[in-house]
Formats: sequence, structure tokens, C-alpha cells
Amino acid sequence: MKLKTPQDSINIHTELIMPGQTNPLGNLMGGNLLSWMDVCCGISALKHCGTICVTASVDNVSFRLPIKVGDVVVLKSFATRAFNTSLEICCEVYIHNPRTGEDTLSHTAFFTFVSIDGNGNRLKVPTLSPLTNRDKELFESAMRRREFRLFLAGKLKANEIKGFKFPMEF
Ligand SMILES: CC(C)(COP(=O)(O)OP(=O)(O)OC[C@H]1O[C@@H](n2cnc3c(N)ncnc32)[C@H](O)[C@@H]1OP(=O)(O)O)[C@@H](O)C(=O)NCCC(=O)NCCS
Repeated sequence: MKLKTPQDSINIHTELIMPGQTNPLGNLMGGNLLSWMDVCCGISALKHCGTICVTASVDNVSFRLPIKVGDVVVLKSFATRAFNTSLEICCEVYIHNPRTGEDTLSHTAFFTFVSIDGNGNRLKVPTLSPLTNRDKELFESAMRRREFRLFLAGKLKANEIKGFKFPMEF
């Protein structure tokens, strides 16, 4: 199976925010953004796996900055780590200022996709090999994020999470 890098799965999606996509204050509705993020990440998963990929989960998404009508939004997604039949995709959302060319990072979210065939059977995903220092950091931290999301989904027990101390401190 061919070794892939995060660069192989980069996908860029650009949107101009229109009045029909905003709330009465002129701010983009979160659901529109989530839908674009899902599609953007799904294409990255498809680029990595070359198979049908279904969304298994989306980690916590905080809408840090309001995105206003007339803004240009740029979504960038790429694979951070391949597991067995699933892989993690990072989605970065930028607000692009066309006058200055400046991109401001609005937020980042992590999606998990599962590779399946036409009959819904799960397929092994190609191995991902990180290249840059940032790729390597995201690759390492992906294991911790995976443990927590599987814990929250009830698929992993607390005592199966490395470094987990009970009672959990908040
Ligand atoms: C995602 C799905 C394939 C998982 O099926 P399952 O029988 O629960 O799978 P398993 O527990 O055997 O796990 C299979 C893989 O999915 C991963 N997975 C399962 N639930 C997960 C979750 N909530 N978050 C992240 N990964 C998850 C597992 O870690 C495993 O990955 P691995 O093989 O790399 O270790 C199944 O729940 C499904 O088809 N869901 C619907 C997907 C869909 O329609 N998405 C669009 C929603 S609108």
C-alpha cells in the first residue's frame, strides 16, 4: 500500500459569505460552516484513501471569530494520521481579507473518517508519514485526540487512556 503524506491530501475550499447564509446580525450561521468543513475534510479523506469515506465524528468546534457577510472564507484540510480503518483530518478555517491578502485563522477542528467499500465494509487506510515538524506534532497528538474522542463515544474506558488519572481533574 502506497505511503502518503499530509501534503497528498490537502484540499482548499473557498466561499464568499452571502446574505442568505447569515443571521440577522450579518454573521455566518455555524451550520453552513460545519457543512463546508465536512465536505472539505471528506475530500481530503478521499484523496488519502482513494475510497468512499464516511464521517465518524467531529471534535469540539468553537466559533472563535464572527465571519461577516462579504467576507471570504478559506478552508484548508489535510490528513494528520491514519489509524486502522479510520483517519483524522484537520480543518483550518481562515478569514481572508482580499484587500490586504491577509488570512486570519478563525478556528481549527478535527474530523474522523472511516474508509468503506461499496457494501459498507470497512477498509484498511493507507499509512500516513508526516514530513514537516508541524505534521509530526499533529501526528503525535492525534493519538491523544483519538483516545479522548473514543472515550466520549463510549468506545474506550477511562483506564484505557494513557496518562489518565481518576478522578479526572477539571
Ligand atoms: C463510523 C462507523 C463506520 C463506525 O462503525 P462501528 O461499527 O461503530 O465501528 P468500530 O467501533 O468497529 O470502529 C471502526 C473504526 O471507526 C472508528 N470510530 C468509531 N466510532 C468513532 C467515533 N465516534 N469517533 C472516531 N472514530 C470512531 C474506530 O476507532 C475504528 O477505527 P480504526 O479501525 O482506525 O481503529 C459507523 O458508525 C457508521 O457507518 N456511521 C455512519 C457514518 C455516516 O453516515 N456519516 C455521516 C453522518 S451524517
